[in-house]
Amino acid sequence: MSIASPAPQPAAALGAILERHDRRPEQLLQILREVQEHLGHVSDDIQAHIARELHLPLTRVRGVVGFYAFLSATPWGRYRVLFSDNITDRMQGNMDLLDHLCRRLLLEPGHPSEDGLVSVDTTSCTGLCDQGPGLLVNGRAIPAISRERLDLIAELILEGRPVTAWPAELFAIVDNVCRADMVLDNDLDPGDAVRAALARGDMSQVEQAANTRSWREANVAPPQGPLATLNEIRSANLRGRGGAGFTTAYKWESCRNAQGEQRYVVCNADEGEPGTFKDRVLLASHADLVFEGMTVCAYVVGAGRGFLYLRGEYRYLLGALEETLARRRRDHLLGRDILGTPGFSFDIEIHVGAGAYVCGEESALIESLEGKRGIPRNRPPYPVTHGYLQRPTTVNNVETFCAAALIAAHGGDWYRATGTPKSAGTKLMSVAGDCARPGIYEVPFGTTVAELLAMSGAEHTQAVQISGPSGTCIGPDEFERRIAFEDLATAGAFTVFDESRDMFEVARNYAHFFAHESCGFCTPCRVGTTILAATMDKIHDGHGTPYDLEEIATLDRVLNQSAHCGLGHTSCNPTLDTIKRFRPAYELHLKDLDFEPAFDLDGALRRARQMTGRDDPGAHLTTEPES
Ligand SMILES: Cc1cc2nc3c(=O)[nH]c(=O)nc-3n(C[C@H](O)[C@H](O)[C@H](O)COP(=O)(O)O)c2cc1C
Ligand code: SF4
Repeated sequence: MSIASPAPQPAAALGAILERHDRRPEQLLQILREVQEHLGHVSDDIQAHIARELHLPLTRVRGVVGFYAFLSATPWGRYRVLFSDNITDRMQGNMDLLDHLCRRLLLEPGHPSEDGLVSVDTTSCTGLCDQGPGLLVNGRAIPAISRERLDLIAELILEGRPVTAWPAELFAIVDNVCRADMVLDNDLDPGDAVRAALARGDMSQVEQAANTRSWREANVAPPQGPLATLNEIRSANLRGRGGAGFTTAYKWESCRNAQGEQRYVVCNADEGEPGTFKDRVLLASHADLVFEGMTVCAYVVGAGRGFLYLRGEYRYLLGALEETLARRRRDHLLGRDILGTPGFSFDIEIHVGAGAYVCGEESALIESLEGKRGIPRNRPPYPVTHGYLQRPTTVNNVETFCAAALIAAHGGDWYRATGTPKSAGTKLMSVAGDCARPGIYEVPFGTTVAELLAMSGAEHTQAVQISGPSGTCIGPDEFERRIAFEDLATAGAFTVFDESRDMFEVARNYAHFFAHESCGFCTPCRVGTTILAATMDKIHDGHGTPYDLEEIATLDRVLNQSAHCGLGHTSCNPTLDTIKRFRPAYELHLKDLDFEPAFDLDGALRRARQMTGRDDPGAHLTTEPES
């Protein structure tokens, strides 16, 4: 996607990009993404050139280009407009707006204009649900799309103005923090948490390791400093905020104890779950806290290098994040001998994704970091022992690192005082959909769904989808349930549907999301998610029967038993939840028959009948049951 539109110089741009990335194979995705940005596509010739320069098979380069939605071997036009197509975008009329823009630009969705100027299409959720509908133009996010804003965008495109010269207010994305607590209202200055971690425990042993590259190499007893901080993380009972709720201290300890000299810390900022946008806000306004948590983690596990994997849709945050990293290097909060502590050296680089939801799965993310297609690995072994480049790697969510920084600064007891006995601390909730005040709500664990609905001004609520499509859909009889690992575990999405919404359509949108985002590696998911989406379309078209609903339950069992990763396992969740809780929404669409084929066989033979000039009964497939 070209951000600087006019006259790119292919050879010069490509040379500079390859140079900047040292022609390292693991930088392949970053190289391809930057080429895409500068030249608008990655042509076959350029792919071959990159393969030669990186000493990689051409098939590997082609495979990566084909895998990621934001890379392409052919031009999409100098301007590529992608409408976010989450359920909340649909509720806000994104499809009418897409039609409006296509009419203004005289083109069909999905097809570049004949002069190669512009193309318009859809993409999965862009993380702007609180200020949607959203879209991306050449990779830059624009919120709050309206007809008026689209008219302006059409004018700018038709006059050929580079996206970098478009009015800044088009790109103004707000945080929308509606309730702040210990994370969003934290009192830490940059470096406070790292200083606290360094100060904790017996520093004489840290000094003993002076002039060596790591404590491990110094072959001295583990310094008390890192272990003391690990103990605080343990006593805080911190659990991961990325969805699975894994115990953070156990993960860090396993990585610390794993065999190997080099360790890595990875921050998962892929945030692709439709309806989730809390990491966007942490990265936009609390980047220091995120990097602080990563640095504390590096100190505990003994890592020298870290990565922040930023979803491609948040590319617009890259500049500010790089500036924060540069400042932290100047302030000796990153780099060699951090804060003058010999042997404690750590730095962070940012990798930007290229439009693949599955890359949020931690092993797929590591593949992507290594410059490959984001296909989830077989597990075990787990990243803590065999992660980046098969070395011990700790992967945590953005919010988990923020909580870890707070714990390093204030201690486990302080942290545990908030929340429930089994779920310590707070949770950032991304509230969107049918409510008066969508935005970020940081609430103590234990808060009920009803309380959150009241805070956000939701009325006549029919359902809430908790944790996005891979989570749980609940109705009013469950609104007293609590946001907590022991009840409603969540990565943070909280999407509200009022009584006017067709819950069948909600589930249909999610079914299409999974079919679109399945990486295609394993057959059960590749085929199963497509069957699910086709079945929902069949029901939508009025050809569904109760039998189809039973088939979805069977499909879910197959996917749970045989899909390779969590995407496949959870893909039937929203459909099954809504069938269970909102069955009348399905029955409205069902035909009153026991069985209706999804495919009209007799209709498909129409062309053959025309060609042979036959229309007698023998040329039709009978619909009568055989006697
Ligand atoms: C399909 C899929 C997508 C995921 N997306 C994300 C994501 O965007 N962000 C995230 O932190 N975890 C995501 N996860 C969970 C990660 O695999 C991993 O559990 C998490 O990053 C660990 O961090 P935590 O322990 O701090 O929660 C995803 C998992 C699956 C199966
Ligand atoms: S379950 Fe789906 S997303 Fe996961 S590996 Fe299989 S095809 Fe890919």
